[in-house]
Amino acid sequence: MSGANGMAEESKRAVVTGASSGIGAASVRALVRDGWNVVALARREEKLRALVEEVGPAASYVVCDVTDEGSTQAAVDRILANGPVKALVNCAGAAFGKDPVATANLDDWRNMYELNVIGTLRITQKLLPALKRAPGGGTVLVISSTAGIEPYEGGAGYCASKFAERVMARVLRLEQIGEPVRVIDIAPGMVQTDEFSLKRFGGDAERAAAVYAGVPNPLKAEDIAECVTWALAQPDTVDIDQIVVRPRAEGSYTKVFRER
Ligand SMILES: NC(=O)c1ccc[n+]([C@@H]2O[C@H](COP(=O)([O-])OP(=O)(O)OC[C@H]3O[C@@H](n4cnc5c(N)ncnc54)[C@H](OP(=O)(O)O)[C@@H]3O)[C@@H](O)[C@H]2O)c1
Repeated sequence: MSGANGMAEESKRAVVTGASSGIGAASVRALVRDGWNVVALARREEKLRALVEEVGPAASYVVCDVTDEGSTQAAVDRILANGPVKALVNCAGAAFGKDPVATANLDDWRNMYELNVIGTLRITQKLLPALKRAPGGGTVLVISSTAGIEPYEGGAGYCASKFAERVMARVLRLEQIGEPVRVIDIAPGMVQTDEFSLKRFGGDAERAAAVYAGVPNPLKAEDIAECVTWALAQPDTVDIDQIVVRPRAEGSYTKVFRER
């Protein structure tokens, strides 16, 4: 049986990090719907278990902290022991705080770098050889952000980490030219997910809700998942280098339409 890009269905096996919520969980659902086998990775086992029970036997999970070398190596070993991997979807990521540079918390910055930059690098490095062995070639996909394109006040730490993530994807693409691997960078603008802003503001629900207040139809996790499945479904030799996707109401981080 072949999929849209001619791939045999049995060779369509993807790893999704950050799969326990938001964009990662939506990507797992959409990929399974499109005939992929998916290994869902994150730290919270109960959320991963519930997701896998919901989507059925085409999905499995491995608990993995991408900021931890041993945890990530163990996860990769387990994944590869169970078969080849065709795509890695890097969704694990977060923003911590929104303080000005002058007073920013160093640990917030350190944690964003460890997760968004080093964590993405760590698992990408470990899976890259296997991805390149996939029939027809493999794909590294990162969910970066428009924060990695246009910096904004209070966002220096998060923006810098997302700029770094985008540069990593771009340079990997250049370095791997001629090799059987695609590198895809999807940069979303405002996506209303349950946890992202809540975590950013240390659990302050009011502050988190204010991010989306009055914005008609912010993007949903499912919108980004559709970008992921579409980009992956292109023929192996077609690399969707970059997608920038925003809600219609958002022209830039600082130019957002809000209904009163
Ligand atoms: N929401 C937005 O507006 C937006 C816009 C642009 C880009 N993005 C990016 O999209 C990605 C997903 O965001 P989201 O909105 O879906 O947020 P989310 O719901 O908070 O999802 C983040 C995911 O990352 C996982 N994670 C956190 N730390 C981890 C670690 N150390 N190891 C492994 N997994 C870890 C979390 O699971 P566990 O806690 O269970 O580990 C969770 O599954 C992030 O990279 C974010 O920067 C989001």
